[in-house]
Amino acid sequence: MKILITGGTGSIGEGAARLFLKDHTVSQIIVVSRDEFKQHQLRLKLASPKLRCVLGDIRDSKSLQKAMRGVDVVFHAAAFKHVDVGEQAPEEFVKTNILGTMNVFDCAEAAGVKKVILLSTDKAAHATSVLGMTKGIAERLMIARAHEKTKTVFCAVRLGNVLASRGSVIPLLVHAIKNKKPITLTDPKMTRFMLSIDECSQFIKFALQHGTQGDIFVKKCAVMEMGIVVEALRAIFHSRAPIKIIGRRAGERTHEILANETELMQSEDMGDYFRISANQKPQQRVRVETDYSSHHIKPLSLVQTEKVLRSLDYIIDELA
Ligand SMILES: NC(=O)c1ccc[n+]([C@@H]2O[C@H](COP(=O)([O-])OP(=O)(O)OC[C@H]3O[C@@H](n4cnc5c(N)ncnc54)[C@H](OP(=O)(O)O)[C@@H]3O)[C@@H](O)[C@H]2O)c1
Repeated sequence: MKILITGGTGSIGEGAARLFLKDHTVSQIIVVSRDEFKQHQLRLKLASPKLRCVLGDIRDSKSLQKAMRGVDVVFHAAAFKHVDVGEQAPEEFVKTNILGTMNVFDCAEAAGVKKVILLSTDKAAHATSVLGMTKGIAERLMIARAHEKTKTVFCAVRLGNVLASRGSVIPLLVHAIKNKKPITLTDPKMTRFMLSIDECSQFIKFALQHGTQGDIFVKKCAVMEMGIVVEALRAIFHSRAPIKIIGRRAGERTHEILANETELMQSEDMGDYFRISANQKPQQRVRVETDYSSHHIKPLSLVQTEKVLRSLDYIIDELA
């Protein structure tokens, strides 16, 4: 099996590449991204003859066409992902997250790719930000393709916050703590669905095995409260750094929604996952009372949060 990962030099793309390089049925992993230095670092880190890095921009379909030849599966991870940046530069988000996604879908279909898995976000459900809206449109583009009855299977995974991924809140907080700067916190009561990079890679693998036309998969995730996350990090790094509350930023919301009520009504409960079905005829409908929101799930306690954070490679490296 030949796999292509757009954005394969990013935190999640790299995690997926690591997992699939161990799979003996995978003959090649092709990473498409723009920055040659990140590709150089990835080659050094993964050190595998199965890895091929291709410079390309998903905004330019020509740079994708050649790379897609002979590919069986595409994981589409390349995107802009920062909520506050999206509010300042919506056009750029449209070009990458929407038009870029259309290019990826077009090229994959033209090349006869068997399955395309879009990486989406909980911010797409009842979107309040440019990021969420552009990823929501990307999901709808995926569903529209699925309805066209193409030979390529299009599906998606909707992710919560991936712990310690590049540019995410935990590396920012750790940086402040280690540099003895005040810790800026938007709102201590803010809650987020959280999963590790390893959980994320397993989730992507699950979607590869089970995805049918138009499916959006949602993983049932642990919820963390941001005030508790900060307390746990202060305990881990023995910090007494002061906390500065700065309030919610533009586009951000206090609680996240992994699947809204309407979507749940057309979902199948698969144990650790929900499958939101595009054909609206799930085998086992989910009993729905409300959205699947981080507001409705008990957050991890301080002890539990600290345990999860201490288990992350990123935290282990920062403590070394
Ligand atoms: N991290 C999270 O917490 C989280 C949560 C929910 C959903 N997701 C989704 O998961 C996906 C991956 O996230 P991540 O955390 O791994 O992001 P990341 O670490 O920022 O990586 C993004 C990747 O996309 C590439 N890229 C960006 N624009 C590109 C373009 N125009 N053409 C080609 N490559 C491009 C980047 O490489 P270059 O800059 O070198 O091009 C990089 O490899 C995204 O779709 C994101 O929306 C992430």
